[in-house]
Amino acid sequence: MEKEFQMIWRAAVVYLRKAPKKDFVLHTKWVVRSMEMLLKKEGGERRVLMPAAILHDTGWADVPFELQMAVEGDPARKALVLHLKNAPPIARKILKGRGFTKQEIERIVEIILSHKFKNPRNLEKRLLIDADTLSDIFKEPFYADAKHYKKTPKALLEFRKQNRFYTKTAKDIFSREFLKRVKELD
Ligand SMILES: [Fe+2]
Ligand SMILES: [Fe+2]
Repeated sequence: MEKEFQMIWRAAVVYLRKAPKKDFVLHTKWVVRSMEMLLKKEGGERRVLMPAAILHDTGWADVPFELQMAVEGDPARKALVLHLKNAPPIARKILKGRGFTKQEIERIVEIILSHKFKNPRNLEKRLLIDADTLSDIFKEPFYADAKHYKKTPKALLEFRKQNRFYTKTAKDIFSREFLKRVKELD
């Protein structure tokens, strides 16, 4: 990762560590890796999409504890809405003074805001949604999630099977990793 993104990563980690819901540092690490894989084959502007991937879940830092722990229903939805709502000020604060233009910063913010509850037509917004979903199937985050959600790997895999993607690259990588997790079951 380039130096300018490493600086953003270091600033983001401070926020990601504050959120008790799950290990967002691990999650984000794999969203960033997934984004790098997608950027190679699908295009999209790296300068905007790497910061968007790094910062997309920093808004969880300011979601009230009771809401973070909700797994379903209205509180869980409210938590998701809030993690989007909280993200722009954090993202702007971290990106300020790092050589991004105002337009670039607002594009990054728009991409972050579209990673839940939306079905965007824009490729860059789609790439963040794909990277976010794809990240969960890799070995390290997969078993961390199974432990965290107290699910068996088999049950979690069954659940992940329903994942849908916009891009062919994400579908291909997902299928490959999915098979690896299936093989680990026996
Ligand atoms: Fe998120
Ligand atoms: Fe995420």
